[in-house]
Amino acid sequence: MPNLEAIRSRLAKVGQSHLLNFFAALTPVQQQDLLVQIESLDIEQLPALVDTYVKSKPVFSLPPELGPAPYFPKNEKSPGRSWDRAAMERTGESLIKAGKVAAFVVAGGQGSRLGFEGPKGCYSAGAVTGKSLFQIFAEHFVAAKVRYGATVPWYIMTSPLNHAATVAFFEEHKFFGLSQRDVQFFPQGVMPSLEIATGRVLLAGKGEVATNPDGHGGCVKALSVSGALADMRRRGVEHISYFQVDNPLVRPLDPAFIGLHAAGPGSSAEMSSKMIPKAYPEEKVGVFCSSQGKVEVIEYSDLPMDLQKQRLEDGSLRFIAGSIAIHIMGVEFVERLANDPKFALPYHRAEKKVPCIDPISGAAINPSGNNGVKLEKFVFDALSLCRGSIVFETDRTEEFAPIKNAAGLDSIDTSRSLQTERAARWLEAAGVAVPRKTDGSPDCVLEVSPVTATCAAEMAAAKPTLKIDRGAKVAL
Ligand code: UD1
Repeated sequence: MPNLEAIRSRLAKVGQSHLLNFFAALTPVQQQDLLVQIESLDIEQLPALVDTYVKSKPVFSLPPELGPAPYFPKNEKSPGRSWDRAAMERTGESLIKAGKVAAFVVAGGQGSRLGFEGPKGCYSAGAVTGKSLFQIFAEHFVAAKVRYGATVPWYIMTSPLNHAATVAFFEEHKFFGLSQRDVQFFPQGVMPSLEIATGRVLLAGKGEVATNPDGHGGCVKALSVSGALADMRRRGVEHISYFQVDNPLVRPLDPAFIGLHAAGPGSSAEMSSKMIPKAYPEEKVGVFCSSQGKVEVIEYSDLPMDLQKQRLEDGSLRFIAGSIAIHIMGVEFVERLANDPKFALPYHRAEKKVPCIDPISGAAINPSGNNGVKLEKFVFDALSLCRGSIVFETDRTEEFAPIKNAAGLDSIDTSRSLQTERAARWLEAAGVAVPRKTDGSPDCVLEVSPVTATCAAEMAAAKPTLKIDRGAKVAL
């Protein structure tokens, strides 16, 4: 049991004594839980964090010599920017076959925008089958056994808030056909949630500090302390295919991208990214920029609108490379960062509604406006620490159909349409007629399992023969 007096004095030094206001009224088990929770937090850093992020707001300043990040175009024959696709695909494929590629999904977010109770990966996403996001991802690795004769170990970052529910979901579904020892879960760290008005750490209950996951940037530390990096080393994994839990169209095993990351011109094989051309200046995605030869993602809210609106002579956006949060990270790179005592990604501040209790009366507070500051780290801030980082263009319909909101933009409805459109393209390219409406959109609902195909070429190789009626729902 952590020492009460030691914790009391540490809290007093950082102005957070109120966290023990209800200690005497707790049961011995609750007391123990509270002390363990406080002990696990880095409370000594709180005064500096409160000064920087709560009492003031850090002002974002544009990095020097800012320009758009260069990227490998999806058309490898683009004049002046050609690259050897066949060679990169061969490299990527041999790395997958040799078991040097692992998959990694960050699934620790709270998913509050989606309004879905439970881990977001359990959300029913398949356009026809209603398969969960986790099942769709799992099928890539099930298929890899046949397609590449390879085991792709899969690491899943949860948060303390959804860890048990995530593991239970996999157990209930028998790991979707994967071997249990090739799927590993680990929770990310948390940060205390801070009151905007005072900088005090909020209390979720009389015996519980309010915390929030420490952002996907917390994965660097979590990969290390969980033993995931060590496990990768044991298995001979060299590259980590990183993706978010919200995108059912992600292609975690893309040989061309893996090849460009591992051996492409200008890549240090440390951390690479995929981008899609932004559809319009105001689109809410981070933008790949370059500053003094380094790649950086600048969030849409930080990049001035006049820059976002700049166009080149051909009319295309100058800052065109939108981040879809798909990366590959070198195991060595993550180890280097995790083992560097001076390494720290910056915090980003977000104002949120945080349910809590009054620290004096203990009364529950359900705030109607933002009362809390959450601090998070972003994984893409590690890009500028690479010696050489490459960006690879992909097609929006091929790889990006995120489910973030309950309705409207980036919802299950838009995702279903994109899943259908992608499947329609692949089927048409393979010679199957797809009924389309007068506006050109498919007059049917389609879903392709990653076991069937993860790209148009694999669909063509599967030689599909089927007739799709208007209004039909077809899962392949
Ligand atoms: C994110 C990117 C944005 C990008 C967009 C593409 C950030 C800040 N922005 O936006 O640049 O264009 O995706 O879809 O990331 N997560 C954790 N732990 C956390 C927080 C998040 O694992 O503590 C995971 C979530 O489960 C999710 C992913 O990170 O898989 C993205 O989180 P979210 O906060 O939803 O980012 P977006 O605002 O959608």
